Amino acid sequence: MVAAAIIVDGRLLLAQRTRPPELAGLWELPGGKAEAGESPEDALRRELREELGVEVSGGDRIGDDVPLPDGRVLRAYRVELVSGTPAALDHAELRWVDGRELGEIDLVGNDRGWVPDLRLHLNGW
Ligand code: C5P
Repeated sequence: MVAAAIIVDGRLLLAQRTRPPELAGLWELPGGKAEAGESPEDALRRELREELGVEVSGGDRIGDDVPLPDGRVLRAYRVELVSGTPAALDHAELRWVDGRELGEIDLVGNDRGWVPDLRLHLNGW
């Protein structure tokens, strides 16, 4: 599983989940699941195209891998917007948060451990 930290002008892009019911309403770094034979970087580019309608580049890791209950890991990458304006094509809503807001918003549990690393790149904390 891969997730993207898109940071512009000291703010991080978060996306609000619509599903499953127990995660709906919570905020996450956008991303998703790599398909068979797909590299994490390719999976992230595809997911961001599908979910946000944007093209991204880069892909330095940020934060630690998060082990998931099913044995997979969730890995975050810092990426740069190359083209397009993020749109909530698969989420309820998008929000750009600064470091203070990141500490106050209801993140999905899997993403919470990344907050200290993410904050180092954000304004306002
Ligand atoms: O978005 P999608 O439903 O494909 O994500 C599958 C799973 O990936 C979610 O149920 C969630 O457990 C995990 N995920 C996450 N944090 C993210 C992205 C995905 O926990 N930022």
